[in-house]
Amino acid sequence: MAEAQAQQRGGIADDGFAEAESGVRYEVDGEIATITLARPEKRNAQTFATWSALARIGESLPEQVRVVVVKGEGPSFSAGIDLRMFTSEGVPGQGSFSTAAKIGDAGFEQRIRQAQAGFLWLRRPEIVSIAAVQGHAIGAGFQLALSCDLRIVAEDVAFCMKEPALGLVPDLTGTKPLVELVGLAKAIDICLTARTVHADEAMRIGLAEQVVARGDLEQAVSDKVAALLSVNRDAAVATKRLLQGARQRTLEEQSVAEGIEQAARIKALFG
Ligand code: ACO
Repeated sequence: MAEAQAQQRGGIADDGFAEAESGVRYEVDGEIATITLARPEKRNAQTFATWSALARIGESLPEQVRVVVVKGEGPSFSAGIDLRMFTSEGVPGQGSFSTAAKIGDAGFEQRIRQAQAGFLWLRRPEIVSIAAVQGHAIGAGFQLALSCDLRIVAEDVAFCMKEPALGLVPDLTGTKPLVELVGLAKAIDICLTARTVHADEAMRIGLAEQVVARGDLEQAVSDKVAALLSVNRDAAVATKRLLQGARQRTLEEQSVAEGIEQAARIKALFG
């Protein structure tokens, strides 16, 4: 098993700061990549270095990887953005929102795009991403779970989109998947009240695929990974591509897309 501690350069105030601890561990074992938020003593709070590390993993993901598991060590999946970002001192080497406010709208929007890159790749058709979520998944933590294709959660899961309560918007790619999963009204309810969604509701409204006892989370994720790896790889990629495009297409267009994908499959299998 290859293992690498992902430590990145990058930061909101100055790209040239000394290497910062990203708090991300990354392992590849054959067709499975596992990303672990590994700062449990700070409830896996996320910094720009975390998002930079996630983006680099996406850029360098080995081609053989089919399933990516995202998990957090300790009692919480992730308590969201590192609250030091809201202080004048900021995160050492990465500045704070008050330094970010000084770089101008265009510069800050570019920083956000860089951060979002750490989340967006998790939806690629070539992989299936699974968030294994226990405890709190707040703000950026909730959005990281939303950036994955599937969410398997423990009974103690507590999702909360806290950004509006802090005067911010959710900007780490979470708004679209949230609306697609739960619908506009429920997404408004969840975000604009910053209330907590617990396991039963998460399951009921489609935020979670599966709820398991806390001690069973690892096994449930392993079982899902095994099931995902049991189907034909190329068919899985083509099917995910079809499913992802379905919402944007009419029924007629989707039927045409199915035919095109199937023709390629038949040719590959029997041609
Ligand atoms: N950023 C930085 N440090 C954090 C964060 C955070 N987001 N969350 C927790 N920590 C630290 C605490 O300061 C504490 O550090 P210390 O031991 O040095 O004092 C340690 O992690 C443990 O935190 P506790 O609060 O003691 O842990 P507990 O399990 O009781 O509570 C909880 C967990 C509910 C997640 C709580 O820590 C919390 O509310 N954190 C803040 C959540 C938040 O507002 N996040 C921002 C969301 S908005 C966004 O992400 C854009």
